[in-house]
Amino acid sequence: MKKITIAIDGFSSCGKSTMAKALARNIGYLYFDSGAMYRAVALYCMQNGLIGSKGIDTATLQERISQIHITFEADPETKNSITFLNGVNVEHEIRTIEVSQLVSKVAALDFVRSEMVNQQREMGKSKGIVMDGRDIGTTVFPDAEMKVFVTASAEVRAKRRYDELAARGDNPDYNEILENVQLRDHLDQTREVSPLKQADDALLLDNSGMTREEQMEWLIDVYKKIASEC
Ligand code: DC
Repeated sequence: MKKITIAIDGFSSCGKSTMAKALARNIGYLYFDSGAMYRAVALYCMQNGLIGSKGIDTATLQERISQIHITFEADPETKNSITFLNGVNVEHEIRTIEVSQLVSKVAALDFVRSEMVNQQREMGKSKGIVMDGRDIGTTVFPDAEMKVFVTASAEVRAKRRYDELAARGDNPDYNEILENVQLRDHLDQTREVSPLKQADDALLLDNSGMTREEQMEWLIDVYKKIASEC
């Protein structure tokens, strides 16, 4: 079957990455986490003194943006994707709460987005990839053969996040989580540059009432149909 490009976009906390990773593993494709790239740029700002009392030093970041290279490698044991920032493994650091709080500001900067989009297109040159994010089907790969837009109700996503945190032994507050999910939806959808929106030719996957197995079955069916017609 011909190799295609698969773009998976959607709201935060709807299981996009888990789904995209599992799909890539299932069909032997490479997986790329575009959100990790914005997180790595946020980490770069923190590590290089670009966060001051007035916020991000955007002038310096803009000067240096072309020197920020994000790459991915598979962990030899787990096969999970590891994020590298200029050759250094930052997979753990980019998942901290500090990075999570900063990343949406970094991801809203147009010069950051255009550099990341260039790097993402380079990664997708040889096809056979699954990339997840917010603007993959609309901006990064508008010609992707398979586009999926994932959503679930804010309440379902907040409950899933709540269960994850509770399972880790935390003492989460459901209403606080729900508010955070709703706020992130608003920020993602109203951002000036590349806001989150369903591409006209993307298939909608509302996974509110679906199990992981049902989702995977749906994705594989769609993939087989599209790839065999290419
Ligand atoms: O999916 P995530 O939570 O790791 O994404 C981190 C941030 O990056 C989040 O604020 C949304 C943003 N993002 C984006 O603007 N465009 C993408 N293609 C991927 C993520």
